[in-house]
Amino acid sequence: MIKVSLISLGCAKNLVDSEIMVGHLHQAGMTVIPEAENADVVIVNTCSFIDSSKEESIGHILEVHQQRGMKKRRKHQKLIVAGCMSQRFSKNLETELHDEVDAFIGLDQVTQVGPIIEKIYARDRAAGEAPASFIEGRSTYIPDYDTPRFRLTPRHFAYIKIAEGCNHPCTFCIIPQIRGRHRSRTVESVVAEARQLVREGVKELNLISQDTTFFGMDTWDERPNPRTPVDSSRGTALTTLLRELNAIEGDFWIRLLYTHPAHWSDELIRTIAECPKVARYIDIPLQHISDHMLGLMQRETSSAYIRDLIKRIRAGIPGIAVRTTFIVGFPGETEADVDELCAFIRETKFERLGVFRYSQEEGTRAAKMAGQLTPKVKEARWHRVMKLQQEVAAQVSASQVGRTLKVLVEEPGVARGAADAPDIDGRVYVPITMPVGEFAPVKITGYEDYDLLALPVGQEPATRKVARQAQ
Ligand code: F3S
Repeated sequence: MIKVSLISLGCAKNLVDSEIMVGHLHQAGMTVIPEAENADVVIVNTCSFIDSSKEESIGHILEVHQQRGMKKRRKHQKLIVAGCMSQRFSKNLETELHDEVDAFIGLDQVTQVGPIIEKIYARDRAAGEAPASFIEGRSTYIPDYDTPRFRLTPRHFAYIKIAEGCNHPCTFCIIPQIRGRHRSRTVESVVAEARQLVREGVKELNLISQDTTFFGMDTWDERPNPRTPVDSSRGTALTTLLRELNAIEGDFWIRLLYTHPAHWSDELIRTIAECPKVARYIDIPLQHISDHMLGLMQRETSSAYIRDLIKRIRAGIPGIAVRTTFIVGFPGETEADVDELCAFIRETKFERLGVFRYSQEEGTRAAKMAGQLTPKVKEARWHRVMKLQQEVAAQVSASQVGRTLKVLVEEPGVARGAADAPDIDGRVYVPITMPVGEFAPVKITGYEDYDLLALPVGQEPATRKVARQAQ
């Protein structure tokens, strides 16, 4: 029996691809093991979003290759490179990693990984023979509810990829060139998968894609011009999906990740407000707020539109936690643009915020723009925005003290509230063991940076009273 080990890098979308590969490996009768050193075949599922992700991916490939060169029993071990970096750069990599890699597979080969491995494993490469490449054209694949899949997340949460690809023209981003045009699954397919996951005991369904709010719009008869915000009164496939997921029996959260501001509508706001299982949390990457920058980034939105949208979301969904990301140091960004961004952050007080330094990515339009900034300027701007956000985060955390929250227990002593997405946001630390993978009510007693401290409801007041009485 062939033993396979898989190293999954990059984002949750890539993780779902890894899960599909593992599902197909099991179906092909192969054993999947955690340790690369005992495997017959190692797959590295790569990311190539920015330079540092490419470096990380190449680092893992070189490490696996180096290790198999050092151990005799790994002499015949095969190394396969999959994922975004493979899809995008396989032609260059075939030369650069000629000796290290045995085969490259692309995004659409995740379901063919069994037969590909059998082929690669069956024979050793002749000296000087090029690595095999199984990548065919642009990616068009999308999983369905019955796609074999083995979840790599903890038992209590799962990612559901509701669409693949992206039609947006953001000038800094390479992903549409890697993952292809946007294509949505059907509502029925996603609901069928969600039902199964809830039956298996999953407590949190994280809906993902490159742009979750574009779900179903690629199948509209008249395709909306992505530069035009959607008709706000119109229900979309996403609102239908959320209402159907909300109707599934059971106690679980539905979390909406990666929403593009251009496709929010009043109906989506109303739907979230009316669906109690949809977490009071939205992930809405804004990237900037100055019109100058939004134009250069081709974000299809304006400063006025974004400011109004955030107000409508907060007014329409009481208690919502808004997560966003910004990019600083984009070509042409001025100090005035950064001043505007800081003022916006200060007044909006995002509950969750990430800041990236702009990375000049080969193959993107922004990479060729005039006005590229030095690493020193990018770094200084990143520090300025991060420092400001730390102050905001402390205020946001302080406002939680004394509140009662429903949390999902991740591991002994560590939980997450509805305002914290897995692997992205903060944690709620509870120094008393609660059942892992279950919901529990806790009372927030304090905070440390981005994390909250809590005690299970019912235990906190008594302890405090005793302590106060004793003083
Ligand atoms: Fe994700 Fe990296 Fe690909 S962020 S979509 S794995 S380029």
